[in-house]
Amino acid sequence: MNQPLKSNFLAISRRNALKLISLGIVGTLLGYSRFAKPQPSRYQLDNLILPENLNQAKSVVVIGAGLAGLACAYELSKRGFKVTLLEKSPHLGGKIASWPIQVGTESFRMEHGFHGFFPQYYNLKQIVTELAINDNFKPLNFYSLVFRDDKYHPEAFYPSHSAFPWNILDLGIWSQNRLKWGINLLKPSHWQVFRAITSFRIPNSYEQLDHLSVTEWSEIGFPQGLYDLYFLPFAKSSLNAPDVLSTGELMQFFHFYFFGNPEGLAFNGTKDDMGTSLVRPIATAIQRKGGTIITEATVSNIAYDGEKIINLTYQQGNSYNQVPFTVQKNERLGDRYYGTGDQVFWVNKAQKQALSLTCTHQGCTVSQKADGSFHCPCHGAIYNQKGQVLQGPALRALSQFTILQEKENAIEIVQNKTGFQAENLIKADYYVIATDVIGAKQIFQRIQGEIPPHLSQQVTELASADPFAVVRYWFDRDFDWQYSDFTSLSGYALTDSITLYHRIQTQFIEWSKRTGGSVVELHAYCYKEKDFPSQEVLLQTFEQELYEIVPELKGATILHQELVNRKNFSGYPPNSYQNRPETCTDVDNLRLAGDWVKMPFPCGLMERAVSSGLLAANSILQSEGLQQRSLLTVRPEGLLKI
Ligand code: FES
Repeated sequence: MNQPLKSNFLAISRRNALKLISLGIVGTLLGYSRFAKPQPSRYQLDNLILPENLNQAKSVVVIGAGLAGLACAYELSKRGFKVTLLEKSPHLGGKIASWPIQVGTESFRMEHGFHGFFPQYYNLKQIVTELAINDNFKPLNFYSLVFRDDKYHPEAFYPSHSAFPWNILDLGIWSQNRLKWGINLLKPSHWQVFRAITSFRIPNSYEQLDHLSVTEWSEIGFPQGLYDLYFLPFAKSSLNAPDVLSTGELMQFFHFYFFGNPEGLAFNGTKDDMGTSLVRPIATAIQRKGGTIITEATVSNIAYDGEKIINLTYQQGNSYNQVPFTVQKNERLGDRYYGTGDQVFWVNKAQKQALSLTCTHQGCTVSQKADGSFHCPCHGAIYNQKGQVLQGPALRALSQFTILQEKENAIEIVQNKTGFQAENLIKADYYVIATDVIGAKQIFQRIQGEIPPHLSQQVTELASADPFAVVRYWFDRDFDWQYSDFTSLSGYALTDSITLYHRIQTQFIEWSKRTGGSVVELHAYCYKEKDFPSQEVLLQTFEQELYEIVPELKGATILHQELVNRKNFSGYPPNSYQNRPETCTDVDNLRLAGDWVKMPFPCGLMERAVSSGLLAANSILQSEGLQQRSLLTVRPEGLLKI
């Protein structure tokens, strides 16, 4: 009688034991995937042990000292290349450059708007670690997203070390808006959205979604709450408006920042301005390794012989062209204006003189104010009627021209030889174009010789995003603020984020301690020019919205304000992926870098610029038989890859 009972007991016990073991394994795996921090993926690891450094003299010219050019020049100078880095502006750093401004009797450094340094910016972080400048950064602890109306609660994101799907489950647990996400599992379109965002893969996601703008894609039947809460604000933080942003690019962006990112969304800011905290240390490292950095250098000519670039000519100071040319009257601007686009001239027929309205700082077109002075919309430079600088950051006068001939609707002009320094010619083994989109287009126009037509066409078709605007205010008082020091905003006509500089950067913290004031910045990532046609309209709207965002500031006095307004972020419109130029070109010794280059792994914003520069450096290292730098990325594909 006992035996069967025993074997029965044993049989049940074995089944239970197996169940328990299985549960244990599943639990361990889930626990491991939940708590073990996923490691970055490696891209481009050489299998062979190759030499690190050059043992012969090789030279490279890098054009453009934004993050892409700086990263490329940094890596190549470290490996023994003779690097020359040319920058058109007086300040290095491109979109993370800073420049001096005066507020009353105090000096500060102004920038193009707050940039967050996310923990999955692995390649940028590696450079920071190599330079031992980690202390130049500080965590912002958490990151808020606040909505204009009461439809949604504010969101807050904290550091996290979980990969998909835990990061999304965490978001669901912590978000007070989770019941407003609008997900309906009975709707096939919602499954389509889920599948697309969790299965990112290069190039498949682009092949399937690059033809659609984000706005068009959202119309297929998108969970409205998810779109309002996450997709819309994050799409805009790519600096591209949803109606002109490719859905393939948005998937890449989302994978890099959300679904493939195990690091969470809390990020660092720089302790000082980005020029001081990051750009200067990289530039110093390049110079220490023997690199030469030349600012205010405009590339005037590139000689190409049908296979490779032979040499490059650049000018410092105002560029000079001795060849007369004709410009048509610009009826839209008025009687005294000739030329269009970024080549507009203001004429003084009585004196037979014309003034180029191209700002000598970074090439924006200045406009005349009622008092006759010319103001630059981009960083606030002011020139007098003769074109001389009254206020920086521009350092040089506007270029002057002599009118040779007046025609009915046009004038023939030639440049005066003022402010011009002799042309310099450089011959190098390699050339890297690492400018922004506008700069790359200009440089390609200056290549003498039959450049491969496909390459020219690729560069010509590159797009810039809608303009962005940043206004920074100095107030005579501080205010209470319950959100993060950098907060994304949604639902405002213009403003996309607010930054409390007096709580982040040393120069402003100290000023605030001394004066009791605050320094606040509003940022519009990609506004439509038709809606905000002038800087006056931009400033008025920013101020109205600021008082709505921080009502406490209504009674405060604005001591100073700075506006930065540019249209030079890379655009990622629908159907642009296929034709996007890559690092290597059909020109033997030419490489391309910048966030507009087609990337082989997920990355975004500053990390995309740095990674593109390091890819260009790697390609040159490979050509010389040297060890490539190992590049890092988040998980390269979505968990549910298609
Ligand atoms: Fe910067 Fe004009 S382009 S001030």
